Amino acid sequence: MYNLIRKNIRNLKPYSSARSEFSGMASVFLDANENGHDLLGEGLNRYPDPLQLAVKQRIAKLKGVPIESIFLGNGSDEAIDLLFRIFCEPGEDEAIICPPTYGMYRVQADIHGTPIRQVLLAKDFQLRPEEVLEVSTPNTKLLFLCSPNNPTGNLLDPAAVEFLLRNFQGIVVVDEAYIDFAEGSKSWSQRLTEFPNLVVLQTLSKAWALAGARLGMAFASPEIIHYLNAVKYPYNVGAPTQRVVLSALEQGLEGTVSAIIAERKKLEKALAEFEFVEKIYPSDANFLLVKMKGSALIFNYLKQNGVVVRDRSREPLCEGCLRITVGTPDENNVLLELLAAFKPSLIQTFNPS
Ligand SMILES: Cc1ncc(COP(=O)(O)O)c(C=O)c1O
Repeated sequence: MYNLIRKNIRNLKPYSSARSEFSGMASVFLDANENGHDLLGEGLNRYPDPLQLAVKQRIAKLKGVPIESIFLGNGSDEAIDLLFRIFCEPGEDEAIICPPTYGMYRVQADIHGTPIRQVLLAKDFQLRPEEVLEVSTPNTKLLFLCSPNNPTGNLLDPAAVEFLLRNFQGIVVVDEAYIDFAEGSKSWSQRLTEFPNLVVLQTLSKAWALAGARLGMAFASPEIIHYLNAVKYPYNVGAPTQRVVLSALEQGLEGTVSAIIAERKKLEKALAEFEFVEKIYPSDANFLLVKMKGSALIFNYLKQNGVVVRDRSREPLCEGCLRITVGTPDENNVLLELLAAFKPSLIQTFNPS
């Protein structure tokens, strides 16, 4: 593992913040060049806990992962960015992605000057693990797997993921942003001690309904967590976020996940009735990938009527597909009513293909 880390990061002496140097009892803080006046009365004049210990304690209990194996960031997107910084020498090291998948892996690779190798998923949206190994070289440092996968919605076969964890020579990142919607499935975070090359990503943006708060998690060996903390901005998670997240974690999920899963099943049934719907892919997430005749026309029709879905038709293996987030019952009804009013005859007129 140590050898996978960029030399400059191995040798990095991280910034030591005032708040990380002092952790005892004190009543007068004159160490961080803050403003002593609490203008809003909310304590925001002080820097937040750089390592977010109170939040981590809750997450450790909730997820069954020890604190030393938890990194918290400004969304899981922050962890994706930091993984490139830690493992990929710009212009030299490579990463593998398996499209169709979450777009930020490629964007971050491009930002960091990391060449990407692509191994498309199979037609059933499952991994092709042998092909992944075939295209890897000693410079392939990161492999991104997304399970349940965005935009396809399916869990990846655990046997294929395990095969890659055992045989891929770099870091395997398993992005579980949607895992809470996959009934009965187990998180890879429970197997960290078996696989020192495993990084699991999760987020509070989906099941926990906190996309606006920005809190993402990475679970990994204490060694990888050490480097994530070394390269992050000192105060990467603001005090308001830490506060809101603590309160949400104390309250629990309160059934929104089961409600969304029930709505997903209802939406799937209702969509299947439309003659322009060709296929609805099975989903373990909070969205459906739907193949439609005239998808571009339907996408624009919905947009003109105030409903935005995601057009994924230009992604490999996703021709004619729209990705539809499962909304509230009211939001889903608006969508279904609009689709019911859509005239399929228009498809012939405007989109002969
Ligand atoms: C697969 C996947 N990973 C990560 C993210 C980013 O999540 P966050 O809001 O925690 O940055 C998303 C957001 O859509 C996603 O689909």
